[in-house]
Amino acid sequence: MTKNEMIVAGVMSGTSADGINVALVRVGETEISSSRQKPGPVTEVREAERYLKLLGHAEYRYPKPVRQAVLAAMNAPRASVADLARLNFLLGELYADAVLAIEKEFRLKVDLVGCHGQTLYHQGDPKRFLGHNVAATWQTGEAAVLAARVRVPVVSDFRPADIAAGGKGAPLVSFLDYMLFHHASRARIVQNIGGIANLTFIPAGSAATAVVAFDTGPGNMVIDAVCDRLFAQPFDRAGRIAKSGRVIDRVVNEMLRGSYFRLQPPKTAGREEFGREFVGEFVQKCGNARKQDIVATATALTARSIADAIRRFVLPRPSPVRKQAVLEMILSGGGAKNATLVAMLKIELAPLGVQLRFSDNYGLPSEAKEAVAFALLAYETWHRRASNVPSATGANRVAVLGKISFP
Ligand SMILES: Nc1ncnc2c1ncn2[C@@H]1O[C@H](COP(=O)(O)OP(=O)(O)O)[C@@H](O)[C@H]1O
Ligand SMILES: [Mg+2]
Repeated sequence: MTKNEMIVAGVMSGTSADGINVALVRVGETEISSSRQKPGPVTEVREAERYLKLLGHAEYRYPKPVRQAVLAAMNAPRASVADLARLNFLLGELYADAVLAIEKEFRLKVDLVGCHGQTLYHQGDPKRFLGHNVAATWQTGEAAVLAARVRVPVVSDFRPADIAAGGKGAPLVSFLDYMLFHHASRARIVQNIGGIANLTFIPAGSAATAVVAFDTGPGNMVIDAVCDRLFAQPFDRAGRIAKSGRVIDRVVNEMLRGSYFRLQPPKTAGREEFGREFVGEFVQKCGNARKQDIVATATALTARSIADAIRRFVLPRPSPVRKQAVLEMILSGGGAKNATLVAMLKIELAPLGVQLRFSDNYGLPSEAKEAVAFALLAYETWHRRASNVPSATGANRVAVLGKISFP
């Protein structure tokens, strides 16, 4: 028996500011209360009392001036308040266009939307501000506009509730990661490579409370930035430029000495850590190397920082079934499309005994995963259920995430 079935659109736009990913997901609950079942393709997942079925997904690129406006606003030392206010409403319209377009494409009507919004600023750790300790996060994209256009309720602004509960507001995708990928005898590292790279480690046979998740460092952000600077291209399609270059090991090693990589998890990163300033320092260290070598080096930095994070923070963790457990990485995000990055990662992971797989192999297309996560989180919020994973975000309690806008 199933109940509370809904078609939910998950809408994600990440720190790459490349565009909007939308996933249409059927979510419901089974009345079976047996708690552990084997994870399988997303089209068949039944875990605890929830089930998910991906009905369709699509990507809508931001028009170039919008992408530029978003990039300029992110972490900007100065910005026009009027422009930020307008950008909020404009993004609401673009998100609505994306949901209306996918409804049309798949001839489905959604019941609910979960919209992450575009992060303009994220600071998961409290810092002194006007005499107080303040942590802050800000996602823009007006949900009232989205609700009005699509004519269904919209859950948005997921991160503040976790910060208010003492967490870092990220990663939130761990809730989906655990639900889909926990396994009795396989330990899994669910790795997403977006602008920033983040992982969820799920020890074999563990409860959700044993999940560890954090941002490992740059994903595509530095690669994109150097491609833009040196080749006037938004990204390194399929990793072709990096493939033609040689990695400057010295620069990778020096950059990996940066303080972020040594921080103990939970930890989160964004353009604040790996944006303009970091890229400036990186390019400077590369000196007058060939342009393609610089792209190759940025690609190696991502691969090595992920392997490093696993060596430092994942492998030393106690595991109930460590000895016989298989350790797998399940890769998703735009970075999974960069063949050079994937090849480098594979080489880095081999000595760690980590087997590389793709979320696509589990019925979850790598570009749709985060959008699916926000559909699920919206569903939980709609039913007034908490969906942060405190061991992942560092929160001191669970929290119902987000705000609801009605049409
Ligand atoms: N075909 C491709 N080849 C190489 N890199 C790609 C490809 N498609 C996407 N990417 C990379 O993935 C990034 C977008 O990844 P995404 O998962 O959407 O990240 P975010 O969540 O930060 O928006 C792009 O900026 C680009 O660097
Ligand atoms: Mg994106």
